[in-house]
Amino acid sequence: MKLEGRSFRTIWEKDDLVQIIDQRRLPHELVIKDLREVVDFAGAIREMLVRGAPLIGATAAYGLATAARSIPVEADYDARLGEARKLLAGTRPTAVDLFHALERVTTAIDRGSSPTEKAHLALETAREITEESVVYCRQIGEYGLPLIRQISRRKNGGPVNVLTHCNAGWLACIDFGTATAPIYAAHAEGIPIHVWVDETRPRNQGARLTAYELQQEGVPHTVIADNTGGHLMQHGMVDLVLVGSDRTTRTGDVANKIGTYLKALAAYDNQVPFYVALPSTSIDFSLRDGRTGIPIEQRNAREVTHIEGWLDGKWEEVQLSPNASPAANYGFDVTPARLVTGLITERGICGADEAAILSLFPERR
Ligand code: MRU
Repeated sequence: MKLEGRSFRTIWEKDDLVQIIDQRRLPHELVIKDLREVVDFAGAIREMLVRGAPLIGATAAYGLATAARSIPVEADYDARLGEARKLLAGTRPTAVDLFHALERVTTAIDRGSSPTEKAHLALETAREITEESVVYCRQIGEYGLPLIRQISRRKNGGPVNVLTHCNAGWLACIDFGTATAPIYAAHAEGIPIHVWVDETRPRNQGARLTAYELQQEGVPHTVIADNTGGHLMQHGMVDLVLVGSDRTTRTGDVANKIGTYLKALAAYDNQVPFYVALPSTSIDFSLRDGRTGIPIEQRNAREVTHIEGWLDGKWEEVQLSPNASPAANYGFDVTPARLVTGLITERGICGADEAAILSLFPERR
């Protein structure tokens, strides 16, 4: 995708190191960061310089590959690699892509018979994970596009109003995005489309990142306060809700950014289709019950009590709530499968239930 006229992915190799966009500085500054050691990768995930399930997975994969390359010959290889894996795995608990990526790189490393071969296989795998995410997102766009086409036809070419939550755009992935891929595909085809962008407190990934992406791509959009969606749906102003996922169970329960569940309830009450776009790397085939089985990240309360904004050319943080008021900061919630109209995956669209999911992914039976 393009940022300020230049083509970007969200993670790439440069010589011997890996570079990322520091997403904490968007939309007002475009800052590129170098990641050189495993602690840099872990820090970038934990502090949310990179975020979004597929990008977290790719960053962790490159992090473990970097660790594999830098273990000194005299060191206990398995112990050092185990420490690096533990560091990366401890960064964020909800997005399952992180754990899938670490497992995949570890399996590749285990195939190597020397440290050099192990490092090579690890890097190849990190590259594969990254490239695969791009392909999967493009395919999600292709499968999701007919849904938007259909609504557009039904509205006789009138603008299709999509509501989205958080940022499941290309910044959350490597390219195209998950929830945004069908939107970008529709826009490229000339279908009039307009996106309601939930601001997504407390970190405001919607207002800051999704709005930025859509603006860069020239997609008409409007930023709304998080509580607006229900009102819009009651008044026929939303044709489709399209969100991403951090972890989806084999039965179709969807963990996504906090507040998604309330949008699903409002969509259900107003017969607005509620679709989740996700690559299979975000499906946790080992889990059946999302409400009890998915670990929900709790972050620093300061993200709730304070808010950051751009003032006179620099970032400033101000306090919102009284000094003595405690705050809670749950990062994600789980939308039960019964509220989900369908899942848009790289292999097609299916219902949010085990049989339908397994019909697209029969190898996971
Ligand atoms: O906390 P974040 O920013 O890493 O959360 C990720 C999200 O933006 C989402 O919840 C998203 O919809 C899924 S990732 C494609």
